[in-house]
This record gives sequence, structure tokens and C-alpha cells, in this order.
Amino acid sequence: MSDKILDRYRRLVELSRDVASTLELDALLNRIVTAAKEISESEAASILLYEESLKQLFFQASTNLDSPMMGGLRVPLDSIAGWIINNKKPLVIQDVSQDSRFFGGVAKATNFQSRSILGVPLMTKNKTVGVLEAINKLEGGYTEEDQEMLMVLGAQAAIAIENTRLFLQSDLISEMVHELRTPLGSINSATYLLLRPEISAEQYQKMVSIIQGEARRLSEMTTSFLDLSRLESGRVQFIPEEINLTNLLVECANITFSSMVERQLQFEWDPPKNLPHIVGDKDKLKQVFLNLLSNAVKYNTSKGTLTMKAGTRDGRVFVSIIDTGPGIPKESMGSLFKKFYRVPGTEKLAQGTGLGLSIVKKIVETHQGEIKVKSKVGEGTTFTVYLPFRREKAKAEATL
Ligand SMILES: Nc1ncnc2c1ncn2[C@@H]1O[C@H](COP(=O)(O)OP(=O)(O)O)[C@@H](O)[C@H]1O
Ligand SMILES: [Mg+2]
Repeated sequence: MSDKILDRYRRLVELSRDVASTLELDALLNRIVTAAKEISESEAASILLYEESLKQLFFQASTNLDSPMMGGLRVPLDSIAGWIINNKKPLVIQDVSQDSRFFGGVAKATNFQSRSILGVPLMTKNKTVGVLEAINKLEGGYTEEDQEMLMVLGAQAAIAIENTRLFLQSDLISEMVHELRTPLGSINSATYLLLRPEISAEQYQKMVSIIQGEARRLSEMTTSFLDLSRLESGRVQFIPEEINLTNLLVECANITFSSMVERQLQFEWDPPKNLPHIVGDKDKLKQVFLNLLSNAVKYNTSKGTLTMKAGTRDGRVFVSIIDTGPGIPKESMGSLFKKFYRVPGTEKLAQGTGLGLSIVKKIVETHQGEIKVKSKVGEGTTFTVYLPFRREKAKAEATL
């Protein structure tokens, strides 16, 4: 192999690797076309995506376009790109003016003259996701080697495109986007009202505080959401250590104390004697107890009682957080630990995201523990966390 070819292959490997390093579709497509233009030694490169369900092709990104204005231009299936989709084969056309399949629509919209085209299908194992086209070979015509290079890049690109699509379609992301809409909607309408000249000082204050509250909720939501998605994907490391559970619980209660005072709650805590040490990830367990305590504050009645208990039962330690709040109706019990779930009517009592208990459950279960709820409407709720006590750190490390 000549040095030049070797260099091209080296560059191809580099580009293929770079291409796949983003999950944002627009950024990804731009990287692909830039890489395709370079590797095929062309004047420009474009991507068309194929929408299987609609059986339609859309012009999506191009190196000779700065604005995303063009994105989504529909390209007929009897075009060059359409031929590539239907035949799942690459196609070289050295002179497009002689080819009846050439679709002038893109050229017209982009003000760009195509002379030659090398197009390859973007295929994953079981799907054709689109077409990658190199346009106007800088010197001479497109070669076998160009075609091969673009196919290799295209294979990487197809997988990366499919990954971003799967990512966007994941339940978690679509739920998140859905949930973000509510606070964004409130902020939007509040700012709209703020801009009206006739509002009173009082209304003005109210709008500002709505915006502030909703912005805080958005920020909490994104943090919790990231926590949860990391936990779910297994990308979080649990670092086990020996923990004095009593101390940890006191630490958590201290953190929550000012909010208890604010709601004039009575706090009851009778520290157990000889509670065995447990082994676990201290920060994560802290998150568990803080979440449960904050719920017991938020969803309590003013001047109610918050009780914290700990002890051992059947070879496990348990921690109970008990409140005297409105309780949870039976029909909601099954959904409590689902992402974004909030008991109907809860929005009026306190701000929340509905992600806390999902995070709690995930962390407890990673510790081989269990969480249980008991509740009576009108009386209150008890959340109990059970954790195995293992004195040996090595054993915990093996399972955490
Ligand atoms: N101690 C509790 N008493 C009554 N309802 C509760 C309690 N803890 C949680 N809930 C209900 O479960 C829902 C989910 O809890 P969580 O995931 O922590 O969300 P958040 O605290 O953000 O509202 C809450 O919105 C609330 O409806
Ligand atoms: Mg909560």
C-alpha cells in the first residue's frame, strides 16, 4: 500500500472514532459530513436520513450549509439517494447532469452545483438509516478507494445515528422532556404576564416568585434525573466503607432539622444501643435517608410529628421514618416508586419532582436492601429501609 493510502486509512480511523463521540443528533450529523468531505476529498458532503415509518427521505445536514434551515427538506425516492436506499448499494455518478435521477431541489435551495456524486447507504445490522453523499471530487473522479473509505465511515456513522435515536427514544428521556414542559410552561406564561404594563406590584411579585420556584424545580429535576439515569445505566460506582449508621442518621436529621423547625414539627428519635455497623456507600445512603426525611417533612401536617427509628430485625438493620401527614391512598401505593410519579393532589402540598423515591429504591436495592411503605390516609406514613449487616468489608465489596 502506498504511503498516501496508508495515511488516508489512518485518518479514516481517527475520523470514525471522533464521529461517534456525541449523542446530540445535529452535532453528530455535522461531524459525519465534515469527516466524509475530508476523507473522500470532495467539495462537500451531505446526509439524508430515511424515515422508515413514513418511507421518506429527508435532507438533513451538509458541509456547505451553515444554517439548519435546510434540515428536513424532503427528497423524492426516485432520486439518487432514493436509489441507494432501495438498492442498499453505493453509487458513483461522475456527471450528474447526465443522470435522470438527479434531484435538483437541494441544489436549488442551497445554491450549490453538483457535478459528481458518490453516495453510500448508511446501514446498521438490520436497518437503513440514510444516505451519505460526497459531492464534487476535487481532482479527477471518484475511485473504488473513495467508495470503500466512505463505506467504512458510513458504517460507523450509521451506528452512531442509530444510537442517538435510541437514546432520544428511551423512556427516561421522553418522560423527562415531558416533565420539563410543565415548569417551562409556567415560567413562560409568568414572563408573558410580567411583560404586561397593567399588572400590579403584587402580581409582579407573585409572578417573580413563580418563576423562581419553577426554575428551582427545573434545576432539582435535572440533578435528580442525572442521578437516576446514572444509577440505572450502572455508570455509578458504589464505594463501600464501614458506616456507623447511628451517626449517619443523626447527621441526616441535623441537615433536615431547620426545615422541621420551619414546619413546627416535633422530632422524635430514640438512638438505639449497639446498632451493628453496616457496610455501604455512605454518600448514597445519606441520599436515601435525606430523601425520606425531606418527604416526611414536606408531606407532614404542620405541627405534626416526625419519628426516626432504627434497630435490627431478622438479621438486618432497619431504619423507619414515620410522619403524621395525610397518608397515601391505597391506589397510589403501587406507583410510589415509579419515576415522576406523585400522588394526585400532592403538587398543592409541596414542590417535588417525583424522582426521589425512584433514586432511593435503586440505591437501597443496590445495597441488597429493601424498602417498605405503610400508610393510612389521615394518619400518616412509615417508610422502612432494611439493609443487611455484614461485618466484612470484603464481602460487601464483592456484591456492591
Ligand atoms: N411521607 C410521605 N407522605 C405522603 N406522601 C408521600 C410521602 N413520601 C412521598 N410521598 C408521595 O410520593 C411521591 C413521590 O415521592 P418522591 O419521589 O420523593 O417525589 P417528591 O418528593 O419530589 O414529590 C410524592 O410526590 C408524594 O406524592
Ligand atoms: Mg422526595
